[in-house]
Amino acid sequence: MDRAEQNYQKYCMLCHGADREGGAADYAPSLKSKSLMSTMPLNFLASSIGFGRPNTAMAPYLADSGGPMSMKEIFNLAIWLKYKAGHETIELSMDPIEGDLKIGSKLFAQKCAECHGSKAEGLTAPALANPAFLAFATDAYIKHAIENGREDTEMKAFKTQLSQEQLDDLTAYIRSLTSGWSPEPRELSPYPEPKDYVTNPQGARPDFTLKQDRYVPMEQVAKALKNKNKIVLLDTRTSSEWHNAHIPGAIPIPYYISEAKVSKGLPNDDTWIIAYCSCPHAASDKVIDMLRKKGYKHTAVIDEGFFNWINAGHPIIGGTSK
Ligand code: HEC
Ligand code: HEC
Repeated sequence: MDRAEQNYQKYCMLCHGADREGGAADYAPSLKSKSLMSTMPLNFLASSIGFGRPNTAMAPYLADSGGPMSMKEIFNLAIWLKYKAGHETIELSMDPIEGDLKIGSKLFAQKCAECHGSKAEGLTAPALANPAFLAFATDAYIKHAIENGREDTEMKAFKTQLSQEQLDDLTAYIRSLTSGWSPEPRELSPYPEPKDYVTNPQGARPDFTLKQDRYVPMEQVAKALKNKNKIVLLDTRTSSEWHNAHIPGAIPIPYYISEAKVSKGLPNDDTWIIAYCSCPHAASDKVIDMLRKKGYKHTAVIDEGFFNWINAGHPIIGGTSK
């Protein structure tokens, strides 16, 4: 239990908050609400941690996916989360729920899209059209969440607003967004060596204008890469995300790295060191704070974060993951 608590603080607190209340960064959900913790089976909880939620800030933590934790550590953490939440388990039916997709889709646009996004892709609330979510969430689990909400969060209970039939229509609609997904093990690329940390070592030093003495607009970084300027890029997300895809030349320095190791191999001269994450600041801020404490002056964070970088069409390269 102590070990699980330490792992929570090391890996999860950054976004899910010191007391599992959620919302510390990037709209991470509460991990203590009764309706979540009493209905999410242990294997679903462990899978959410192990495989993450693709295309959201929730990374896969399982070592097989390039993450930092073993399956045993993940299960221990899941058990600890259940124990801390202290709610009795509600056994939900495994049976599929049938409903009218047309009505469900209309209701979704009216009542849910403002937070979950018009395609349920996630906005200020979690993505529901997420392949890894739908691979594990049963229909009854989804319906229970809509009916009862998530205590102490923005997700209010809809049981007085919607009829049982409308709840079924919404559930069937969300289920229809399933795209097929399986947690196939990946081939992991080797990590770069210190001699390769600097991108374009012969290039000129780029000029960056920082906001709040810290944030650099992504367009300036994209331009520096295009001009083959000398730069060090730090990918501060969970290491599995680096294996998925990263900005060319970026090296994995995840937010949970120790202070002793954070600067290993990084030049402390006038080379710009630029960090990014998807949260879009929390993980990078943590790493940049550690480096500045150690006397690294030319450090900054990409203001818009990794997802906006992709959406703007700037270059990324994939790992060897299939
Ligand atoms: C005001 C914003 C808001 C609206 C409107 C809203 N939700 Fe949510 N919803 C949230 C938030 C925030 C969460 C995550 C809560 C948490 O656990 O911290 C959530 C969670 C959920 C979950 C659980 C997801 C999971 O990963 O377990 C489901 C299912 C869901 N909402 C469905 C709906 C549906 C269907 C509607 C429309 C009838 C709706 N929501 C309307 C904000 C909203
Ligand atoms: C960089 C921020 C970040 C970190 C760090 C992080 N998470 Fe998350 N987590 C999120 C976000 C954002 C979501 C919602 C994703 C979505 O849109 O579906 C999420 C979703 C989840 C869910 C699904 C909850 C639900 O309502 O369905 C679980 C469980 C979870 N995280 C556990 C963890 C654990 C345990 C750790 C530490 C090992 C962790 N997370 C680390 C951001 C983070």
